[in-house]
Amino acid sequence: MARQLFQRKPIGELLADEGNPNALKRELGAGDLVLLAIGAVIGAGIFSSIGTAAAGEVLPTGEVVRYGAGPALVLSFLLLGAVCGLAALCYAELASMIPQAGSAYAYSYATLGELVAWIIGWDLILEYAVGNIAVAIAWGGYFNSLLSGFGIHLPDFLTHGYRAVIKSSDPAVQALLTTAPHIGGIPILINLPACLIVLAVTWVLMLGVRESATANNIMVGVKLLVLTLFVVVGAMHIDPANYKPFAPNGWRGIHQGAAIVFFAYIGFDAISTAAEETKNPQRNLPIGILGGLAVCTIIYMIVGAVATGLVPFQELRAADPLAKALSAANLTTVSWLVSLGAVVSMTAVLLVFQYGQPRIFYAMARDGLLPRWAAKVHGKYHTPYITTLLTGLVVAAGALFFDENEIYDLTNIGTLSAFALVCIGVLVLRYVDPDRPRPFKVPFVWPVALVGAAACIYTMVGLPVHAWERFAIWLVIGLLIYFFYGFRNSALRRARRPVPAREDVGAGV
Ligand code: ALA
Repeated sequence: MARQLFQRKPIGELLADEGNPNALKRELGAGDLVLLAIGAVIGAGIFSSIGTAAAGEVLPTGEVVRYGAGPALVLSFLLLGAVCGLAALCYAELASMIPQAGSAYAYSYATLGELVAWIIGWDLILEYAVGNIAVAIAWGGYFNSLLSGFGIHLPDFLTHGYRAVIKSSDPAVQALLTTAPHIGGIPILINLPACLIVLAVTWVLMLGVRESATANNIMVGVKLLVLTLFVVVGAMHIDPANYKPFAPNGWRGIHQGAAIVFFAYIGFDAISTAAEETKNPQRNLPIGILGGLAVCTIIYMIVGAVATGLVPFQELRAADPLAKALSAANLTTVSWLVSLGAVVSMTAVLLVFQYGQPRIFYAMARDGLLPRWAAKVHGKYHTPYITTLLTGLVVAAGALFFDENEIYDLTNIGTLSAFALVCIGVLVLRYVDPDRPRPFKVPFVWPVALVGAAACIYTMVGLPVHAWERFAIWLVIGLLIYFFYGFRNSALRRARRPVPAREDVGAGV
């Protein structure tokens, strides 16, 4: 049984799944990878989670859920840049060996076996689908700021999800529990804009939108423009008094701030999958990945420094902290422009993640770990329409009710655990399959992979207890599904059963 659980998918089979890997053209240079990273990474993390990371989170009961970093948020960003750099190098080695849809799920199938692959695939749902609930809620926050620039104010009960209301320590938000319309004694508290944007994105994806380099470049332009505007105008209105105390909660605040704002870095794992299309990967991949991370880290540190200098850090506690900081400094026009840029940027993030999730389901269904219907492709639009619709409905429903902080936590813990497993996977594969060609090899692999895995786990430790509890429940549900469905239906295991004899042919090992 244990042998079966840790059965590894031969890399040769993974490559065969890909169709014709030789068809990919090596066109990307280090500069392209940097742009790709900015496109995939900058979104709700910097526009929204930065507020809780700086200010911390306190429940209406007075219980401190997490301590904020305060102005020392810049140090949280710096540390995260280093943690993600180590994990990114490991991703790059696996991506260059196993260029296949399914990302970390596919890598772990080849390195750590089926059970771990399933767990990672299950964790990736937290990164992609669940993460998008938070992006949608952040989108909603900035969309409301944008509307208020036109003098339009949606009723509060339509812009605040129930969970966000009961967790808010703002008395005005808490009051919604009594002032909102009630049905059968239950207050109607929903985040309608967040739900509607997810449904719109789902509809576009079902029609078969494709990621394109031009669209990515435009998005990168919008993101950089709006953040530059925030920095340049904001810097002129910094009050140095806001920087004191610099680290109000010491190392604990920097650590716990980093654990939530890690969300801002999610997505760079996607660029490591471009290994097959990169010219001279041994040189360009580390430059591109580390360069992309360095650029994002510097941007984040500058934005963090300006945001915490503009207003006292406690005032950043909001779904739209950058817009709120500018408004508080009476910079309403710039605040409106930043909201517009944030809405556009986060729509792109929603698209990318909502596009990615069904493709991970697709890879898992193709391996028999999920039902076959999850791998069905639409006859006319050539999209995995069933999983696209299902993902859209679940994310839209989550966006209606949840609090974005609890979602950031769950996404971060799931993604960090996947990163840690990928770091370990690199070492395992070096050991069990040392001779396989590696277009990109992690330099100093032992320290890089071990420190990378340890740093990811240490970042996870900065998340609140409830995140660990929910993560444990998530894993238990995942394991139950695996043992009752995936284990029995795994294509790998079916192919290797001794009978019938024909299925044995071409099983790989
Ligand atoms: N890094 C992405 C964001 O911040 C997920 O929206």
